[in-house]
Amino acid sequence: MRILAIETSCDETAAAIVETTDSGVLNVVTDVVASQLKTHSKTGGVIPNVAARMHTEALTRVLNEATEDKKLDFDAIAVTEGPGLIGCLLIGQSAAKTIAMVTGKPLYPINHLEGHIYSAWLPPAQQSAVSSQQSAETEKPRAESRELKADGSPQLPALIVIISGGHSELVLMKEHLHYQLLGATRDDAAGEAFDKVARLLGLPYPGGPAIAHLAEKGNSNAYKLPISLPEKDSLEFSFSGLKAAVGSLVQKLPQPLTRQIKSDLAASFQKTVSDTIKRKTLSALDQNPEIKSVCLVGGVAANQHLRANLELAIYLNHPRIKFFLPDLKYCTDNAAMIGAAAIFHTRYGHPTPWQELIADPNLAL
Ligand code: KG4
Ligand code: ZN
Repeated sequence: MRILAIETSCDETAAAIVETTDSGVLNVVTDVVASQLKTHSKTGGVIPNVAARMHTEALTRVLNEATEDKKLDFDAIAVTEGPGLIGCLLIGQSAAKTIAMVTGKPLYPINHLEGHIYSAWLPPAQQSAVSSQQSAETEKPRAESRELKADGSPQLPALIVIISGGHSELVLMKEHLHYQLLGATRDDAAGEAFDKVARLLGLPYPGGPAIAHLAEKGNSNAYKLPISLPEKDSLEFSFSGLKAAVGSLVQKLPQPLTRQIKSDLAASFQKTVSDTIKRKTLSALDQNPEIKSVCLVGGVAANQHLRANLELAIYLNHPRIKFFLPDLKYCTDNAAMIGAAAIFHTRYGHPTPWQELIADPNLAL
């Protein structure tokens, strides 16, 4: 089974071909991402109509590259249904509907969050963690694979920790395509907090990588910042108080902030976000002892401090639980993750007639 997947929900124009072989191996045959980050960093964030226009300009080229100039065939099409920016979602969906109509092949609408979840089933990190998302250039298609049946992929029940620019959620997955929300953010998502704190420190969009870079030279214990909703059994997140705490600290500090002070603030903020996610994840594991795997996914899962901190905490507290991290290039938005989710929809779900596909900017899991 081969899927042509398309993702245009926000600021990455992405297409990929993902397949499963008869022996149960998941292959990423091609994976192309044209990033708009350079453009959006000039305006300090994503302007929806600019993003939509850039998708229309890039999508044909991205689709051509992903299909190697239409030489690669596929059995089904997958596209992001939502959540996302409505104008952006519609660009990808128009292309997917047209391909489905012309070829007569089945179409699988995929929830963007489901895509992030199934990024944990994609082939693990290889020697080269080149991230095409860092550049406006598209990445050369590259084949990678992972055995789905072996110990190498997440076993259910799994706890999925989705930490992205729009979401911070703990999801219990007992069966494929069944998601039970254990907790979510009451206000800002963790990635949103990274982006807002970056702005407070005069750093460019997206804030996550910029803060992580600055934090490398900072002291993470320099400033004590609050962990919101610290009660032991709370599985909810709240990051707007943390962002406000950094804001009021910045106002009290001598201006202009020195590079060292900014680094210390970045490191202290990053540690607090990571400690918050660690605490909630461990609480969720205590409350659900049947869990066999934990998967950390979403754009903020690219954060090295968070990756290492959570992996160590799970190893020390629950040594029998396996921890899964997508390759860095599958953390931020991409189409391979949409294709991976679609592979499971071909097994346990069903396609949607292309005429019935509707973009839903607020689609829940
Ligand atoms: O998953 P994603 O690409 O888009 C959404 O679905 O939201 O996540 C984007 C978010 C942005 O807020 C960005 O600042 C954050 O992921 N991010 C990071 C890192 N790389 C991206 N946050 C912390 N550390 C990083 N290395
Ligand atoms: Zn995303």
